[in-house]
Amino acid sequence: IYRKANPTTLPTFLLIGPSGGGKTALLTLTERNTVLPTHTSTVPLAIEALLPEGYTPNSAHYRSAGDPAYERARRFLLLDTPGHGKLRHFATTQLVNPTNVRGIIFVVDAASVAEEAGLNEAAEYLHDVLLALQKRYTGAKTSKGPKEIQVLIAANKMDLFTALPPHLVKIELEKAISEVRKSRAKGLKDSGVALAGEDDSLDEEREWLGEGGEGSFEFAQMEEVGTSVTVKGGNVTGGGVDVKSWFEWIAEQL
Ligand code: GTP
Ligand code: MG
Repeated sequence: IYRKANPTTLPTFLLIGPSGGGKTALLTLTERNTVLPTHTSTVPLAIEALLPEGYTPNSAHYRSAGDPAYERARRFLLLDTPGHGKLRHFATTQLVNPTNVRGIIFVVDAASVAEEAGLNEAAEYLHDVLLALQKRYTGAKTSKGPKEIQVLIAANKMDLFTALPPHLVKIELEKAISEVRKSRAKGLKDSGVALAGEDDSLDEEREWLGEGGEGSFEFAQMEEVGTSVTVKGGNVTGGGVDVKSWFEWIAEQL
């Protein structure tokens, strides 16, 4: 039992996001330090990874490289999930009881979110992920609340000239999620889930992401439920590789 630390106790980062965003490409790059051709994923895939040199795990800032505790702190699991609409249960079941999940890396194709269809798909998926995190927090039995899970929105494919810059990816996703939130609430009403009565208004509240009221959704509202959402740009392929800001984010969570 003591021969090797059980890999399932390692801090885990989930790769989630719409199909084609670049999750598997990022996983491959992390594992092999090189980019290989990918196919659309049909099953999840976990790898044990090591924070590359040049990044310092947050928990080991006062230790030096080579120190066993420092080296241990560099280890993490990366779990890739299929983005296809019919295969998202692999990702969403991870959110029901995310024992060792330290963070979620939501990978989006920043060029595809420049168009309405791509934006809406990403917003719907992200809405559901954030709502799952919110429910986990508000439904927690302990007074301390569950361990925090942070979210990185990896705005990928910055090498494409049609890619939206990260600050616009953020604004566009927030706007689109506001719309998702509205139509979901309307759907609940129309479906008759919320017939008059107190319990139903409670239901509606539970299904409403972020702050109530007329305002729009902002990622900052997730702070209330223990999740900070950060958007950072990069690219996995496309001539050069730029994943620095994503690894910096992972290092901060370790
Ligand atoms: P699913 O498995 O279907 O959920 O998709 P995925 O998110 O795993 O996407 P995948 O990693 O397979 O990448 C999809 C396509 O995007 C591949 O052809 C990649 O080579 C390409 N790709 C990934 N990252 C980049 C990038 O930074 N720039 C460009 N131009 N293409 C990229
Ligand atoms: Mg994949």
